[in-house]
Amino acid sequence: MSTTPLCALADVPDGGARVVDATAAGVPVVLVRRGEQVWAYANRCPHFSVPLDFEPGDVLCYRGQVLMCAHHSALFRFEDGHCIEGPCAGASLDAVEIAVDDDAWVVLNR
Ligand code: FES
Repeated sequence: MSTTPLCALADVPDGGARVVDATAAGVPVVLVRRGEQVWAYANRCPHFSVPLDFEPGDVLCYRGQVLMCAHHSALFRFEDGHCIEGPCAGASLDAVEIAVDDDAWVVLNR
């Protein structure tokens, strides 16, 4: 398996999100972080298959628990990308396989 560095863990706001260009993943990726835990999803809302951010890179998060699609306010859990509220409730974001390496970089696993 090869890995591709995406960004430093410290560059993902704790309790927030960061959108990274991940050519190797085939789509832009949104990283969400809670403490030392980080998860990655394709930046594509299952409702209308559009990016979750309205202004590029500006992904709204609440209480370090959920991120919100900027278009119709669907809420997705950090830990599994499951939509808990909104027009696509029950759907999920597409997970992207990542890890945090020994240098505290978030890397894409391919
Ligand atoms: S496009 Fe995301 S909630 Fe409608």
